Amino acid sequence: MAAIKTLLLIFSCSSLLILSSVCEAQTAPPLVKGLNYTFYKTTCPNLESIITKQLKSAFSNNSGLAAGLLRLHFHDCFVQGCDGSVLLDGSTSKPSEKAALPNLTLRPAAFAMINTLQGLIVKACGRVVSCADITALAARDAVALSGGPNYSVPLGRRDSATFATNATVIQFLPSPRFNVTALLAALALNNLTVNDLVALSGGHTIGIGHCAAFSNRLFPSRDPTMDQTFFKNLRLTCPTNQTVNTTNLDVRTPNTFDNKYYVDLVNRQGLFTSDQDMFVDSRTKPIVTGFSTNQSLFFEKFVFSMVKMGMLNVLTGTNGQIRANCSAKNPGTVGDGAWSVVDLEVGSGEGAASY
Ligand code: HEM
Repeated sequence: MAAIKTLLLIFSCSSLLILSSVCEAQTAPPLVKGLNYTFYKTTCPNLESIITKQLKSAFSNNSGLAAGLLRLHFHDCFVQGCDGSVLLDGSTSKPSEKAALPNLTLRPAAFAMINTLQGLIVKACGRVVSCADITALAARDAVALSGGPNYSVPLGRRDSATFATNATVIQFLPSPRFNVTALLAALALNNLTVNDLVALSGGHTIGIGHCAAFSNRLFPSRDPTMDQTFFKNLRLTCPTNQTVNTTNLDVRTPNTFDNKYYVDLVNRQGLFTSDQDMFVDSRTKPIVTGFSTNQSLFFEKFVFSMVKMGMLNVLTGTNGQIRANCSAKNPGTVGDGAWSVVDLEVGSGEGAASY
């Protein structure tokens, strides 16, 4: 069955190639039990077109939203699995994942869009689609609608009724100050490899970063692995190591999902230590070089690793729930205390992250 699917994908890809540069990925990691490509075929047949239509129009007014949605899925999956836990609001006495430092720079507009999408989907199909699946599909569309590869997303995730602690978020989300050794150790917690690291980091081909996330490379002096002119320009954006400002992650094509991020690295114009060290470390350098000269190879490996990341520790079957509101666990859920947010919402604002 899997072999037939692969053959079909190769066929549709090669026929599509004649007409278009967009083409389905040729390989996919083995499916986790409980997920499949036709999960909502009868219960919500228009699910994907509802999401794509809404995002197409939203991205035309807000080009950064795509980056926000892609990062949201990553931050969901790495912490406690792709279970929508990052979407949950907390309270003052029980802060949610949103309040943890790496998540302070997740975009409020991305959270809001997941809720908007859910509203549209509930209207069309009732409450059958999980917030975790909506987040995975939104991330896929963020990539595809920004010029990147389109690919099929295995579906059937369910939502958690709990969120992770601050310490767990910090443990599982790598810091931009990490070198490759630290990054590999962090990714290994989720059974991800060196190939996954380099491919997934290609997500930095769109979006922005705050000065605090790369100030370690500017102060007290230039990180020697950084290009001189790039450094001078970044110092204009971030004149002091307290400056709150942002810059594009990919200096060449900041809003297009392409392989230029790797061209940046080869030219020593990567923004974070975690980016640039991949062109320093001998385990990752050849992969970076390969992607910098072969966009189709990058797209193929990115899709593989995204689908793999999207299946991390998922809740399926009768585990978890389908939330009525993506920001809160369902009323009456047995779990960890209060069922909805009653206190002050925390953690959805902009912040200067230096985690
Ligand atoms: C490998 C380790 C990674 C580290 C250390 C890292 C770190 C960061 C940091 C510090 C920012 C900037 C936050 C800010 O200052 O506003 C950022 C932005 C971003 N990251 Fe990553 N990231 C990693 C992996 C990923 C992965 C796997 C993806 C998706 C596949 C991803 C997608 C993005 C996107 C799209 C943005 C821009 C967000 C926006 O513009 O709102 N990152 N990342």
